[in-house]
Amino acid sequence: MRRQVTVTIFVLSLGFVFGQVSYSIPEEMAKGSLIGNIAHDLGLQIKRLTSGKARIFTRDSDEYVELNRETGAILVKERIDRETLCKKTTPCSLHFQIILENPIEFYSVTIQITDINDNAPSFEKREKKFKISESAVIGAKFVLERAVDLDVGINDLKSYTLKPTENFELKLHNNPDGNKNVEMVLQKPLDREKQQNMKLVLTAVDGGELQMSGTMQIVITVLDANDNAPVFTQHIYKATVTENSAKGTVVATVKASDADEGSYGKITYTITNTFDEVKNIFEVNQESGEVILIGNTDFEESRSYQIHLLASDEGGLTDSCKLFVDIQDTNDNNPQIKIMSKSTLISEDVKLNTVVTVISIEDKDSGKNGKVKCFVNEDTPFSLKSSANDFYSLVTDSELDRETKAEFNITVTCSDEGVPSLSSSITLTLQISDVNDNAPVFERSSYEAYIVENNTPGLSIFTVKATDADWNQNSRVSYMLEESSVNGVPVSSYVSVSADSGVIHAVRYFDYEQIKDFKFCIKAQDGGSPPLSSNVTVKILIQDQNDNPPQVLYPVQTGGSMVAEMVPRSADVGYLVTKVVAVDVDSGQNAWLSYKLQKATDRALFEVGLQNGEIRTIRQVTDKDAVKQRLTVIVEDNGQPSRSATVIVNVAVADSFPEVLSEFSDFPHDKEYNDNLTFYLVLALAVVSFLFITCLVVIISVKIYRWRQSRILYHSSLPVIPYYPPRYSETLGTGTLPHVYNYEVCRTTDSRKSDTKFGGAGSQNVLLMNPSSTGTMQRIQNEKSILDEPDSPLEFPPSPAAEAHMRPTL
Ligand SMILES: *[C@@H]1O[C@H](CO)[C@@H](O)[C@H](O)[C@H]1NC(C)=O
Ligand SMILES: *[C@@H]1O[C@H](CO)[C@@H](O)[C@H](O)[C@H]1NC(C)=O
Repeated sequence: MRRQVTVTIFVLSLGFVFGQVSYSIPEEMAKGSLIGNIAHDLGLQIKRLTSGKARIFTRDSDEYVELNRETGAILVKERIDRETLCKKTTPCSLHFQIILENPIEFYSVTIQITDINDNAPSFEKREKKFKISESAVIGAKFVLERAVDLDVGINDLKSYTLKPTENFELKLHNNPDGNKNVEMVLQKPLDREKQQNMKLVLTAVDGGELQMSGTMQIVITVLDANDNAPVFTQHIYKATVTENSAKGTVVATVKASDADEGSYGKITYTITNTFDEVKNIFEVNQESGEVILIGNTDFEESRSYQIHLLASDEGGLTDSCKLFVDIQDTNDNNPQIKIMSKSTLISEDVKLNTVVTVISIEDKDSGKNGKVKCFVNEDTPFSLKSSANDFYSLVTDSELDRETKAEFNITVTCSDEGVPSLSSSITLTLQISDVNDNAPVFERSSYEAYIVENNTPGLSIFTVKATDADWNQNSRVSYMLEESSVNGVPVSSYVSVSADSGVIHAVRYFDYEQIKDFKFCIKAQDGGSPPLSSNVTVKILIQDQNDNPPQVLYPVQTGGSMVAEMVPRSADVGYLVTKVVAVDVDSGQNAWLSYKLQKATDRALFEVGLQNGEIRTIRQVTDKDAVKQRLTVIVEDNGQPSRSATVIVNVAVADSFPEVLSEFSDFPHDKEYNDNLTFYLVLALAVVSFLFITCLVVIISVKIYRWRQSRILYHSSLPVIPYYPPRYSETLGTGTLPHVYNYEVCRTTDSRKSDTKFGGAGSQNVLLMNPSSTGTMQRIQNEKSILDEPDSPLEFPPSPAAEAHMRPTL
């Protein structure tokens, strides 16, 4: 503590005021602290103080000091606070008087109070809040609160500091009144996005020796400004979507971010394409950034899209990006088949690989979806050849035959390789035109037909039929007879064929006995150009009719002569008298002969073998039996109706020839015959006799010439069937045959001109017959050998009067 005492002694004229004294003390001295001794300072006696009842007089109510009368010391009675006493006034003093009585005297005392640094600077508020936009410019000022220090002088407020000093700087302005304005100046821009809140501390310090300070907090909230544009996460987005995807499909999501807050950070997405159709196909969700399909995507129209997208905040800042959308192909297009050229009619004889149709294929899809393969249905003789890209030609790959199939429905199917694959098809109808490539074909490889002999000419025998597989004119068949000859006669004189119908007609009547069958060819020819033909062999078989009666060969019925069989009277029962030999030129049943006894002189004596015509005795011959026995044998064939012939057999029952002659001289003649033919027989006999003599001469001379060759003639291979009278063979060696039969056959190589010779004593008993001459008994001619039997040459068939030759010669 510093004390300053200033004593001033006044001499008062009135003797009223005697002096004054002043002291100086620091404030805040402890109670009872000595300020000064007035007795000493004023030079007063202590006694006086006591007697004078010295006391302190002050106008103020407070008494900060007191007076000790005994010592004269002035002491601090109350704490003295300069700031209370004087506020900011300086100097600060206490004024009072010390009054003495007896006599009254008073003295002025002044105590000057000096300041000590007992007050720190202080702010009115502990905290101050600011809201500053981050867009605040550098240099922006913000006024801060001032601090107050109650102390004065050196102890008063001296300076401020602000921490941290990153963004702001403190600036003090001296006011004219001596106060200082405190301001905070923005030095570095604020960034809300970096630091949204700041706390700064403002400190005020005074100048006292022991420095004191006060602080205050400054809270700054940085307000957002639209200082950040939206930013897309990528500049370029890529997405793929298959074509024809459903509307509403999310293709991609674009994303932009904005560091700002609130509306400045609220992003809106838009599509900014203007001229293309993107806006009709895509839409972006304003808020989420999802790009959605709203239209139809067609790969075949557009394979990719470029979408320009804009992100904008509400402060008008934007960013843009691109979205590339690739459209993926799906197999949504069928292959299209177009016929470029086609023929609807082709000839069946076209060459292999003839192009029928050319088609072109198109599939709008790409890749495998557009890769097309074509094929035709397998059951056709056509195949597809791929000529150039997407061109196919339909060609024939095997031979066509209109007769097998005249029309084709060719289905061309094309399918792509997509999964699943799409296909389409067309059907081409192709007609095959006819070529005359089929000859007429007869229904059978050969024909056999039957016709009963003695037909009426013009009778239709049967019908041949040929068919031609071709069409129309090419299949119109006409029939014709192939020229040939049958037995040297042109076949056309036997049969004719109707060109249109194939009916075969007989031109003449046929005789089974003359011709049993014959063959000829019929040609069938179609109407094509050139025509095709084929032929067939027709065999006509002539069927027998019972048109010939049996012919009796033996016994021979001669005109006038008498022929009789001899039966000795000694003959036993069953003695073979003779055998009736007959033939029938018909065949089969018609030639199956049976023999019956029709009339007899004595029916009890003879019988005729039904089958073999043998005449046998059926009882012992007696002497009573007549020499002349006359038997009439009827020969019947088995035809329907049957035909028959009768023969008269004369039997002589005698042991000697003279007996026979005498008996036979009156043999009754068969007047039936003789009356009619006597004249002719005489004539014939004369001619025959003449011929006989002539021949005899010729034969004798020729025979000598020919005997060597007779052996060669015998070796001829042609069939010769000699006809033997039965007895000749059957009874040979039994010794019962009364006659000797001779025969000799000479013939030429031509069977139809065979010569026949009757020879020997019983020349009537021999018949020569050539079976190869179709059943016709030929005239016996005298060409190469001897004809020794001038009469009874038998010529059958055409002559119906065969019976005439059977007349007895008696
Ligand atoms: C071909 O098709 C047509 C029409 O569908 C039909 O009338 C005809 O019979 C078919 N032809 C063949 C050979 O299948
Ligand atoms: C009949 O046809 C055959 C072949 O089919 C042929 O060899 C023959 O000469 C033909 N005959 C006639 C008479 O045309």
